[in-house]
Amino acid sequence: MPLRVSGDEKMHDIGDRCQRFSEGKRAALPLVCESSHFILSSGTARATRAVVESRAMNVAQLRQEYMRSGLSEQDAGADPLRLFSAWLEDAVRAGLPLPNAMTLATVTPEGAPDARIVLLKGLEHGGFAFYTNYSSRKARQLAARPAACLVFQWSELERQVRIEGGVEKVSAADSDAYFSSRPLGARLSAWASEQSATVASRQVLESAMQEARKRHGDSPPRPAHWGGYRVLAHRMEFWQGRADRLHDRLLYTRADAGWKIERLAP
Ligand SMILES: Cc1cc2nc3c(=O)[nH]c(=O)nc-3n(C[C@H](O)[C@H](O)[C@H](O)COP(=O)(O)O)c2cc1C
Repeated sequence: MPLRVSGDEKMHDIGDRCQRFSEGKRAALPLVCESSHFILSSGTARATRAVVESRAMNVAQLRQEYMRSGLSEQDAGADPLRLFSAWLEDAVRAGLPLPNAMTLATVTPEGAPDARIVLLKGLEHGGFAFYTNYSSRKARQLAARPAACLVFQWSELERQVRIEGGVEKVSAADSDAYFSSRPLGARLSAWASEQSATVASRQVLESAMQEARKRHGDSPPRPAHWGGYRVLAHRMEFWQGRADRLHDRLLYTRADAGWKIERLAP
């Protein structure tokens, strides 16, 4: 299967391919540059072309290239979602571990911050999708305050992306589609694990898993308490490391007819 990441990629495709990369099969995957799908910065395009041509991952080389060429307003383009797709594609191509891992920050009902890592599983309808338990701590926080911040860090490429936005649940059909694509063990543990609740022991968890296996066999349906959320970005900041700590920071904020773009001091 060729490696393709597009700006309007369907649910769970990104996650699945990122998973395969982290499972160490990257050498077997041919690389295909679908540059028509993206706005690539000239630095990104140069580096990507080099990778495609050589069929070899050289993260240090990519990093040097990005540090030299940086992130200009012109190269970044008007659409931050497309820029994000290009950066995610770079991280996948570079073979970084878990390129779709992101910090998800939420707010408790009392106004305290909270954060954890989740995996990006789709970029659709201008939203960043992840899947979880709808009764978990994060879900309770999102029910009370449906807003979140996401942070991606691709340290080997000296890049960070910060995203802020409102949060909504994905449709039941999208959650069903993603759930059915998961390995059997992951589908069963969605039944067995009451995410974020205290458990008396490991044994209690193992027994719950056995019980789920007995009850649902090889085709567990999606539990009603499990599904996806989508963060609808209204603010996105791209950070590219540069020499002498004079880094590039481009901030996109939603404006009436699109996005306003500003440069921030590093
Ligand atoms: C690399 C990594 C990926 C993770 N991906 C997810 C995920 O996609 N969904 C999820 O619910 N939890 C994921 N987790 C676990 C969460 O970090 C967290 O422990 C869990 O969601 C419970 O959080 P909560 O108690 O704040 O709801 C992941 C953890 C790590 C370290």
